[in-house]
Amino acid sequence: SIDKRVEDLIQRMTLEEKVLQLNQWAYGRNTNVNNIEEKKRAVRPEIGSLIFQSVNPVFRNQVQRKAIEESRLGIPMLMGFDIIHGCRTVYPIPLAQACSFNPDLATQACAVAAKESKLSGLDWTFSPMVDVARDARWGRVAEGYGEDTYLNSVFSAASVKGYQGKSLADPYSIAACLKHYIGYSLSEGGRDYHSSDVSPQTLWETFMPPFEAGVKAGAATLMSGFNDISGIPASANYYTLTDVLKKQWKHTGFVVSDWGSVANLIPQGFAADKKEAAYKSFMAGVEMDMVDNLYTEYLAELVNEKKIPMSKIDDAVKRVLQLKFQLGLFDKPYVVELPESERYFKPEDVAIAAKMAEESMVLLKNNNATLPLNSNVKQIALIGPMVKDSVNMLGSWAEHGIPSTVETIYAGLQKEFKNKANINYALGCDFDGNDESGFEAALEAAKNVDVIIACIGERKKWSGENASRSSIALPAIQERLIEALKKTGKPLILVLSNGRPLELVRLEPLADAILEIWQPGIAGGTPLAQIISGKINPSGKLAITFPLTTGQIPVYYNSRQPARPTLGRYQDISTQPKYWFGHGLSYTNFAYGDIKLSNTKIRKTEKLTAEIEITNSGAMTGKETVLWYVSDPSASITRPLKELKYFEKKELKIGEKRKFVFEIDPLRDLSFPDGTGKRHLEAGDFYLMVNNQKVKFELVD
Ligand code: IFM
Repeated sequence: SIDKRVEDLIQRMTLEEKVLQLNQWAYGRNTNVNNIEEKKRAVRPEIGSLIFQSVNPVFRNQVQRKAIEESRLGIPMLMGFDIIHGCRTVYPIPLAQACSFNPDLATQACAVAAKESKLSGLDWTFSPMVDVARDARWGRVAEGYGEDTYLNSVFSAASVKGYQGKSLADPYSIAACLKHYIGYSLSEGGRDYHSSDVSPQTLWETFMPPFEAGVKAGAATLMSGFNDISGIPASANYYTLTDVLKKQWKHTGFVVSDWGSVANLIPQGFAADKKEAAYKSFMAGVEMDMVDNLYTEYLAELVNEKKIPMSKIDDAVKRVLQLKFQLGLFDKPYVVELPESERYFKPEDVAIAAKMAEESMVLLKNNNATLPLNSNVKQIALIGPMVKDSVNMLGSWAEHGIPSTVETIYAGLQKEFKNKANINYALGCDFDGNDESGFEAALEAAKNVDVIIACIGERKKWSGENASRSSIALPAIQERLIEALKKTGKPLILVLSNGRPLELVRLEPLADAILEIWQPGIAGGTPLAQIISGKINPSGKLAITFPLTTGQIPVYYNSRQPARPTLGRYQDISTQPKYWFGHGLSYTNFAYGDIKLSNTKIRKTEKLTAEIEITNSGAMTGKETVLWYVSDPSASITRPLKELKYFEKKELKIGEKRKFVFEIDPLRDLSFPDGTGKRHLEAGDFYLMVNNQKVKFELVD
């Protein structure tokens, strides 16, 4: 068995060999990727893992061969990298995926990513990021599944399932890594790497569930965050890393630090020097040191000084070796060496990326049915810096994405409207700067058209790691371009591509329709064009609220109930954000019947069935996602205004009626945690909410 083989190995390992297993080195950055000899020399064969920045399986096998053949015990290395929304077949950023409300599609997309990663020589991805994110200034909102805890939990499990498959030993499975454990997204003011003041209540109520769901789904590893959690850094937090993760949740995999987060304990003021940093991280429960080399340097010394027991080292090594055995690396250390042309972009895989792009696009506004374009539209002006872009559409952390494989908006529309309408293209302006010299050509292109489609948004480097912004508005030059186009009096459609919610307070009134396409990856052009033409009915809903202005942040749907609900508002703006979580229009109408409950009073041990019938009363087949919320108006710990507890997405043909059912399990859906994680289920009144309906039921002992 794996346990026996691990035990056997550990018994034969020297302390130095054990410690090296607990280290991960970065590999490839700042070195010549083609110089294999140089890179082979740079690696100690006993090292536990590499951040492997190449997609060359031949190279991986060469490095792996060095580990197997040149280390005394022939232990294979784990090659890890950030494949967070596809390897070469880049699909939409995670924030967009969440807007699809289609976790099965996320599973499929992650399975494609896993296959392409494996064929590139990777065993492990640093994904999914399941940090519930409510501050759009924080650049990493792009990398997670939005503002809701339940939605993050569902996508956490779905992506782990996709990466790891049925078994880690499957040929195309890679290990997942839930990150960033924990509270990272609450970094003050949305400034990356800053501390986060996470109360125990918020920790358990908001941040723990997506990690717990991922652990339950079998995630092999977790990554500890850069932040500190109310004074105790996440990468040295015994409570979260050991008490909760290892003891309570019984996670048997391992935790890797984030890049440099062990050494960061020094600037954070939690360790006086490198040795203490290594000691504190390791003792708290971080088994692997990402790139700091501090474990290599100090763990053996700390064992010899009897500060770290050997049993603790053995436990950490056991966790690392176990994963290598589970992945089958001891028996099959080398990956298949297919030529590049056979490794990526299989049509069925690109189709999954396109489907995800389609379902993640959100129609935010559609006055007077501006979209889809009707057949009288013969002249289209296609304007803006995003139209021919193939770099930024990939989004952040798409290191192996290739811009030339991106289907641009321009290409998608040309294909879709060939023989139907004429397209006048103009750049208009760049993403930022002050150069308005392109405005004239843009206005010229818009002169005799039936409709203007303006494609604007963010560069990919404006979101992602270390990409916080003090304002979430687009640069003024883009807003000025739209103002100029508005003056033509033509119908104006905005297509937005961005990695975070945007401040649309000035732009929204200028547009007749707005379509949010996020950063869709390589296959967004056709889905977008087909939404515009009406071949596809948009079905995405926002996984994150769009604030009215940056100063309104934080604004999210499930905040706690205010003491004076109508007061305490900003004097200068509305209490409402621009678009709430869950907002998203369709080309058809979904008529909601009344919520029907199987009972209005249930015991704590009973289940309650809620049903709603929905009719597609419009003129086009479409998909509707029903979002079921629960609200608990009075409890021993105040509850959010409402909380998403379940959702389901179904397709309805014209005139079709379908039933949506939610079975309420009181323990799961009506209980809440306290600051120690203990769950409480309290009798009393509850409300179930769907759309704009609200029905009351009672829970009794
Ligand atoms: O996985 C990432 C993490 O999310 C941020 N810092 C670097 C890591 C490895 O690339």
